[in-house]
Amino acid sequence: MQKLREESSIPAWSSDEFDSPVSPHIEPAYFDKDLDAWVLSRYEDVLAAFRSSGLGNNGKSLRTTEDDEAMEKMRAEAREALSPAQLRAWSEVITPIIQARAQTLPEGSPVDLLDSYVRPNCLDLAALVTGIDPQEAARLRTLAGTVSAAAAEPYDPALRAEAKSVTPALQACFHARAEALRDSGFVALSHTLPCMLANAFYALLQNPQQWALVHLESGLIEQAIEELMRHAGLGRFLRRQATEDLVIGDAFIRQGDRLILRIIAANHDPVRFAQPHELDVCRRGAAHFTLGAGSHACVGASLLRMASVAMLRPLVELFSSASLTEPVTWQGGSGFRSPKNLPVVLRRDVVS
Ligand code: HEM
Repeated sequence: MQKLREESSIPAWSSDEFDSPVSPHIEPAYFDKDLDAWVLSRYEDVLAAFRSSGLGNNGKSLRTTEDDEAMEKMRAEAREALSPAQLRAWSEVITPIIQARAQTLPEGSPVDLLDSYVRPNCLDLAALVTGIDPQEAARLRTLAGTVSAAAAEPYDPALRAEAKSVTPALQACFHARAEALRDSGFVALSHTLPCMLANAFYALLQNPQQWALVHLESGLIEQAIEELMRHAGLGRFLRRQATEDLVIGDAFIRQGDRLILRIIAANHDPVRFAQPHELDVCRRGAAHFTLGAGSHACVGASLLRMASVAMLRPLVELFSSASLTEPVTWQGGSGFRSPKNLPVVLRRDVVS
């Protein structure tokens, strides 16, 4: 299905773009000669890959036992640093800040939801979680943007080189005990999270009746976030490498073979999700792959859920509707894409 890709050597199916007019093309696992990798897009195949003990999550070289031990140590430290008690404590600090910012959003006149709400909230959260000075956070956000841009387009050597050159300066500023809460956590919270929320809010803006549903029923907010993550997603694909011979679906995968997991496609597999291309905030059990799954699932998942709920709640509680004032422009690349800005007009309930 290489013809569906923009470039045969880059795993970027245009149908996996969130704003694509056509649905992601889902097909049985196949070996792609140009990518030198198996390509998985069916939900059940991607799930099998996440669950397989015969796949390492490194697309470049086979992992060693030392790599695995270091990764396990990193996960354990992150789990401890992101304990439920710690998440509650951060939530108590960040929620009033987010609520106050929501109160400043104008009613009835244009505002950029990303610049005025999502990005500053995410930056405050990034500073809080990584333990850096909020003034310093604003400066570091620019450096972090270089790293994020390279993650959004992992096949651009110039972006990669720029990211590599700023990484030491960025790393030097973070001293949290858990590695996941240092520079990489800062990049994820100050840049990746706004991108994911930009997609989520764009999806809600495209579906005003769904915005109205969560406005009327705030009990839907948690499941709405899961559905928005499934529907709007962010990262297009993840990479794996087989550490032993294995079978996934009809594919006989040999040790050393590389795999590409098209997670956006799998999140829209009609075999797993009824009407997969519709945003349905009432959908239950939207077990999506936006934050990965299995033993290497995102360790920041509960933090991201807490933050996403904290940011959606005041918006939909305060405003009964919102509409885009102009078409959005998109940023990013084959790794992930999201709207650059969300120019909107917000409206409160009309009281008669
Ligand atoms: C919206 C923001 C984020 C998204 C979309 C995201 C998504 C993901 C995904 C899809 C994976 C699985 C990778 C794989 O299976 O190969 C992952 C892993 C990971 N994430 Fe996140 N993440 C985000 C933010 C964060 C944050 C804030 C942290 C830290 C606080 C974090 C820490 C990690 C770590 C350490 C892993 C590696 C886990 C492992 O390999 O065992 N992520 N993330």
